[in-house]
Amino acid sequence: MTKQELCNLAIKSMENAYAPYSGYKVGAALLTKTGKVFTGCNIENASYTPTVCAERTAIFKAVSEGERNFTMIAVAGGKNGYISGEFPPCGVCRQVLSEFCDGNFTVLAVNGENSYKEYKLSDLLPCSFNSDNLK
Ligand code: THU
Repeated sequence: MTKQELCNLAIKSMENAYAPYSGYKVGAALLTKTGKVFTGCNIENASYTPTVCAERTAIFKAVSEGERNFTMIAVAGGKNGYISGEFPPCGVCRQVLSEFCDGNFTVLAVNGENSYKEYKLSDLLPCSFNSDNLK
């Protein structure tokens, strides 16, 4: 699985986005250390708050299937399903990623059909609250 292939799966997952309120369609593709891919899309709700992002859909799908070791995630999205630029995961998704991934975990932010920008989780969420704080 190349980085571009993972990005392509994120782009494909945008098709399943349920975003009738924002019109912002997001897809994510999460790669496990064993080479499996879990995809996700954003799922909005009329009550707004229960809305879940594409990244968390992918992570929760994976964890609920027994997977907890991940190497990278690709994220793609845009208004009305049109990718006009990149965006890194929202703060809540960064926090959820940090529960299962170390700082070297890679985030691929898609910014075009064949283009993405690469981040490390440690750059996106420095000084995170984690299980060490609860000891
Ligand atoms: N969204 C995601 O799916 N991932 C992000 O990282 C940012 C935001 C979704 C949530 C909501 O359905 C829509 O984009 C607008 O915020």
